[in-house]
Amino acid sequence: MAQLWGGRFTKKTDQEVFDFNASIRFDQRLYREDITGSMAHADMLGKQGIISGEEAVHLREGLSQILADLESGALEITEEYEDIHSFVEAELIRRIGDTGKKLHTGRSRNDQVALDMRLYVRRECGAMDEALKHLLETLLAIMEEHTETVMPGFTHLQKAQPVTLAHHIGAYFEMFRRDRQRLRDTGKRLNECPLGAGALAGTTYPLDRGYAASLLGFDRPTRNSMDSVSDRDYLIEFLGDLSLIMLHLSRFSEEIILWNSDEYRFLELDDGFSTGSSIMPQKKNPDIAELVRGKTGRVYGALITVLTAMKGIPLAYDKDMQEDKEAVFDAADTCRDCITLFDAMMASVAFRTDVMEKSAARGFTNATDAADYLVGKGIPFRDAHRIIGQLVLYCIGQGKAIGELSLPEFRALCPAFDEDIYEAVSLKSCVEKRLTCGAPAPAAMKQSIAEARQYLNES
Ligand code: ARG
Repeated sequence: MAQLWGGRFTKKTDQEVFDFNASIRFDQRLYREDITGSMAHADMLGKQGIISGEEAVHLREGLSQILADLESGALEITEEYEDIHSFVEAELIRRIGDTGKKLHTGRSRNDQVALDMRLYVRRECGAMDEALKHLLETLLAIMEEHTETVMPGFTHLQKAQPVTLAHHIGAYFEMFRRDRQRLRDTGKRLNECPLGAGALAGTTYPLDRGYAASLLGFDRPTRNSMDSVSDRDYLIEFLGDLSLIMLHLSRFSEEIILWNSDEYRFLELDDGFSTGSSIMPQKKNPDIAELVRGKTGRVYGALITVLTAMKGIPLAYDKDMQEDKEAVFDAADTCRDCITLFDAMMASVAFRTDVMEKSAARGFTNATDAADYLVGKGIPFRDAHRIIGQLVLYCIGQGKAIGELSLPEFRALCPAFDEDIYEAVSLKSCVEKRLTCGAPAPAAMKQSIAEARQYLNES
């Protein structure tokens, strides 16, 4: 048990209290951010003459040695320290002696941890963006291949109108595109440096906060020192972004699970992304998709954890905030893994285009088109809707699809029907006519795909 703050205390901390209070078990993963932030602080102290230039170099060298040794495994983080900040400072003092004791001049662990978390989230936003971009590439490749693959589009999980597989996948493309935008917005907003806010009230040393901020790639220092140490909005935004990514992945997973079922058979998952049953030899279960769907709750949980931890905290720093870390780390790890695994699963899926097309041909997905056909013959839409409703009822009785009726059967219901009804209700033409911007017609879809390709090339 080694502490930075023993001076004022007469009793030793009870081991259980120490363990309860300590965060090193989980905040040790911030060592890179912590050391990088400390190096910038040391440089700034030197530039401002708060410590000598020589001392600043000494501090930087010691810190970079520690970083190198942690990266190589030569140095191990031990849990006798309260947190990663204490560990790094103690190790520095152990290595370079008294100069090491000057590192914490004009700084508090409160601005230090706020800085570390911003650096961590900024990096994670970038990593998440990369993973999402890769997923979008996978989805776009599927879209490019399937602009002509007709399948039923659903509302209420009932067959509604014919679409294409490219169009259906394209809907998810848009969701993940928005997710990337949201992460970028979050990344932009959080890119202010809290270093120099001190414990809460700034410091009496002549720090150059702008200089430290620029060394660390921030746009500017944060404005109010109390807000700087007590703001965790960026974590909540980040968790909100991740929650939406998980929501999108979860909906997509649900569809993959349905489509992989024997009832749908729209696709077959690769053996590598399925598992068997210990008792039922025939089973091939979509566990990866189910886990992605299931893990969504963990990420929502993290969001609620931090929202709740923050809601009653008086200014400025309070220890409640230490609770942010495990939630954020777990959510980020979970979400990144889910994107990556889902991506790989999608890249290996075999779509059963014949089953999709057959499914679209049953279930009256062309009923709207049949009504539109009558509108083209001069019948008002509301009347056309009623006539086709009766036609569908007749078809159900006969066990036929609309396109399987004879012309006399059509005409028995409405004399406006002609030979050209067959062309009008053929699935191919039903899809091809949906040409509005954003609609599934292959011609419209090719434009959407070209735009999506350009977007991926540019960002
Ligand atoms: N482990 C702490 C946290 O994660 C670091 C800040 C400690 N500050 C303090 N005043 N005890 O929030």
